Amino acid sequence: MLLFRRKKDLIAHLAALKNTSTSVGLVPTMGALHEGHLAIVKKAISETKVVVVTIFVNPTQFDNQDDLNKYPDTLDSDLEALKTISEELIVFAPAVTELYSNNISSKEYDFDGLDTTMEGKFRSNHFLGVATVVEKLFSIVKPNKAYFGEKDFQQLLIIKKLIEITNMPIEIIGCPIVREPHGLAMSSRNERLPKDLRVKASFIYETLLAAKEIFGMKSATSVMNWVKNKFDKQPEFDLEYINITDQDTLNPVKRKQKNTKYRAFIAVYVNGVRLIDNIALN
Ligand code: PAF
Repeated sequence: MLLFRRKKDLIAHLAALKNTSTSVGLVPTMGALHEGHLAIVKKAISETKVVVVTIFVNPTQFDNQDDLNKYPDTLDSDLEALKTISEELIVFAPAVTELYSNNISSKEYDFDGLDTTMEGKFRSNHFLGVATVVEKLFSIVKPNKAYFGEKDFQQLLIIKKLIEITNMPIEIIGCPIVREPHGLAMSSRNERLPKDLRVKASFIYETLLAAKEIFGMKSATSVMNWVKNKFDKQPEFDLEYINITDQDTLNPVKRKQKNTKYRAFIAVYVNGVRLIDNIALN
């Protein structure tokens, strides 16, 4: 496994490999890797010849300094975890100045409103920061394919939009959510939950599954109200939002249409830890 800290070294290494018309897959991460990330890396390995995993805690996507400070720095164990999958991986773990020089700020983008709802509404400028760093990584690695988890489904849509806006020739691949045995979606934040709450937090996914059932019979508004009601009765959970939207535009559902795909999105605080999840409804 090769670890690069400098973009110029990574660019030179990839340029030499690309001469042999190799396909390159990119898996951007912020480290603290878990099984969900590893599943994405495995998918990239199965589809592309050279796989670059980036590990970079991106300051511009945090609206809350405390959240950024609390973000775990686990490079050594991340590298160990990646080694168990393949010795051939290329890892890029730059310092903040390497990507941002002295200008740690986000670019402006017009994402057609995709960035102002849900995660974008509750974490201001979050997606501008995500897009800024992902565009930087895309222009350094120039991958053929880039892989993102569906747990951050809104982020996945925004990255697809970024490709539309920038015209970069990169195929964006969404990867299914990986869950803990009890159903909680894998996240680096799960580590911050005491064991009992980590099991209890499966309530989030159970509620989404039930919502999916009910959505077959009821309107989006009734299903959202039903979910709110369920959470009102759970003192350990603080529901931030439940949204049912058109899965492509993230617009609210007025009247269900036959050929439209819908998805439910949820954000919940459990013991001060913010968890998100989503589920396809049809
Ligand atoms: O999903 C993440 O971990 C981050 O938002 C990403 C895509 C690596 C950008 O920092």
